[in-house]
Amino acid sequence: MSRPLNVGVVGVGNISGAYFKGTRPYEVIRVTACADLLADRSGRAAAEHGLRALSVDALLADKSIDIVLNLTIPAAHAQVNQAAIAAGKHVYCEKPFALNNADAAATLRAARAAGVRVGCAPDTFLGAGGQTARGLIDAGAIGQPVAAMAFFTCRGHERWHPAPEFYYKVGGGPMLDMGPYYITGLVNLLGPARAVIGSAVKSFPTRTITSEPLKGKVVDVEVNTHVAGNIEFANGAVATIVTSFDLWEATLPRIEVHGSEGSLSVPDPNHFMGPVKLFKAWTKQWEDIPLTHSDRVLRGIGVADLAAGVLGNRPHRASGELAAHVLEIMTAFDASQQSGRRIELKTTCTPPAPLPPGLPVGQLD
Ligand SMILES: NC(=O)c1ccc[n+]([C@@H]2O[C@H](COP(=O)([O-])OP(=O)(O)OC[C@H]3O[C@@H](n4cnc5c(N)ncnc54)[C@H](O)[C@@H]3O)[C@@H](O)[C@H]2O)c1
Repeated sequence: MSRPLNVGVVGVGNISGAYFKGTRPYEVIRVTACADLLADRSGRAAAEHGLRALSVDALLADKSIDIVLNLTIPAAHAQVNQAAIAAGKHVYCEKPFALNNADAAATLRAARAAGVRVGCAPDTFLGAGGQTARGLIDAGAIGQPVAAMAFFTCRGHERWHPAPEFYYKVGGGPMLDMGPYYITGLVNLLGPARAVIGSAVKSFPTRTITSEPLKGKVVDVEVNTHVAGNIEFANGAVATIVTSFDLWEATLPRIEVHGSEGSLSVPDPNHFMGPVKLFKAWTKQWEDIPLTHSDRVLRGIGVADLAAGVLGNRPHRASGELAAHVLEIMTAFDASQQSGRRIELKTTCTPPAPLPPGLPVGQLD
């Protein structure tokens, strides 16, 4: 396999534009084709970005395509991933990795058997904010991590997303939607987790869409929309997390990590930038920490890193193993709520290697 690796996008909806733009700086990949269940969408995206528009089957059968970039809705992720693997292709998927842990495990097993790579969003932890924070923790800037806080709250995506129904169906909800950013961010900083205790509620049985073009449509809510609890990490730190589609406003931090020697304020894990702030026990002051990595990285670095891993024969960072572990953590909140018990996790992962500091955007090693 020679560089660049050819990427075929399956699912060209709302988020696809971010990938067409964000993958451009990376010489290890070239997006060449796209497909969607809605042929007019793939036709439009192909015309706009100079790609071939194919049917999903034709894209999977196309020998020139090395990596399938799966940007479909959550309910289709595992099925499209497994179809790509069966076609002998590497696959990188939007989050969440699957709707349940069995599908995630089956995807990993199929990839191992086929000898192909699986990657999964989010890749935001590879941005300047996440990497600068990781470097500080690895260097002992806050001493031994003991606790973390992570908060995502809003009043739901039906106020802006053009097709927001999937956020309230199985596979949606604030934990599977936004938890990947926060929990992947925490695993990047603290390593794998060992247990979860959670509470989860569906505060409102229906949602009324206020965004166009579906304004006024009422959606039945299938999932819990306020999910809270604790994650116990293998290193001993306990993270408290809230993800909610039920709150109008809040004045909470995004992520904080607290250690024996200080505290770290970590920027929004849904974005790639800063600011990163450090509180040192001995100075008793917060200070702004200069970012150690490029602040021009966008969605797409994860799939580029997968390609660089294939070409350089090294592990890729936004891996299926990491995503399956994050999925098990996320689904454990509902499992804990239903069973009234603390859930011991069965999966783990090797923490993704930090990115070398100081690289220009487009370079990964
Ligand atoms: N919209 C965002 O801001 C955003 C941000 C980050 C991540 N994501 C994630 O990206 C994924 C896609 O979200 P979106 O907002 O682009 O959704 P969307 O509904 O706008 O687009 C999804 C596209 O996939 C197509 N599709 C669905 N099933 C398919 C299948 N089996 N085969 C081929 N095409 C199929 C649909 O026709 C649609 O065009 C979701 O997992 C979401 O969580 C979205």
